[in-house]
Amino acid sequence: MTTATQPISVFDTTFQNPIVLAAGTAGFGREVSGVVDLDRLGGIVTKAVSPEPRAGNKAPRVAEFSGGMLNAVGLANPGVEQVAAREIPWLAEHLTRARVLVNVVGFALDDFATVVKRLDSHQIITAFELNVSCPNTSRGNEEFSSDRTVLADLIARCRDVTAKPLVVKLPPTVSDLPGTAVAAAEAGANGFSLVNTIPGTVFRFDTGSGIPEPRLGFGRGGVSCPALLAVGVLATREVHERTGLPVIGVGGVRSIEDVHQYLAAGASLVGVGTAGFAAPRVPERLAAEWSRGG
Ligand SMILES: Cc1cc2nc3c(=O)[nH]c(=O)nc-3n(C[C@H](O)[C@H](O)[C@H](O)COP(=O)(O)O)c2cc1C
Repeated sequence: MTTATQPISVFDTTFQNPIVLAAGTAGFGREVSGVVDLDRLGGIVTKAVSPEPRAGNKAPRVAEFSGGMLNAVGLANPGVEQVAAREIPWLAEHLTRARVLVNVVGFALDDFATVVKRLDSHQIITAFELNVSCPNTSRGNEEFSSDRTVLADLIARCRDVTAKPLVVKLPPTVSDLPGTAVAAAEAGANGFSLVNTIPGTVFRFDTGSGIPEPRLGFGRGGVSCPALLAVGVLATREVHERTGLPVIGVGGVRSIEDVHQYLAAGASLVGVGTAGFAAPRVPERLAAEWSRGG
């Protein structure tokens, strides 16, 4: 286990420690600032930002089960104009050491570049994280990441409008993940976030009608924590080996041992998501443990 506690140089800057809040699990920082000292972390990845505001999915949006959590938030967000006017300035005003990555989402190819271009001038933003795990509506219910040509086009369009690092967040379910990552790198990606959630559902039986119904309003969702750890560690190792690019390891992190799993697999940074819901101070504690050489 490594005991190095030097700042991490990656994505054209330094992170004081490798712990970042995973996208969608800490809003835009403001939402958790009463319980988390954000400036003690390596950074925060914002929730997804789309060109237009999105209300998100029908409640309930999260459900716990014995293997972890299911969520179908539906990428609810206030839209890029509100984020530019309100959320990014808040982060710029309140953070001095923690880095900011903005998670970007879209439902048509151009949506990603639209968001990136609109936010590019904000100095506080270190990098854009492209969430290509959502359905590509122009081509049916496929994910942008499932077709390498579409993915390369999407990344190239973002590359055209920013010089900031582009970090591509891939789901573990894509076939030939390392090959997809290579295609993304050739199109201009500077790194990867691995992994996003995996699809799943669970039923509830207390419906009154005797007919079981999905526990999530959307009918299905994404599985996170803790089973995702082994999936994310493998994805990190394979993609880092194949591309040589930096990876943010995400999925199932609850302890400093879990952090070291990702670092051992080649991750530069480690995202903490669901664990922070149950215990908001977990990310800060992990950052402190890492800084002590834990
Ligand atoms: C409630 C919730 C909302 C999420 N929203 C986003 C999002 O907006 N964009 C994204 O790329 N990933 C999103 N994710 C995925 C997380 O960033 C992360 O990849 C995943 O939860 C695995 O990490 P964990 O096991 O530590 O939670 C979300 C996850 C959860 C649980």
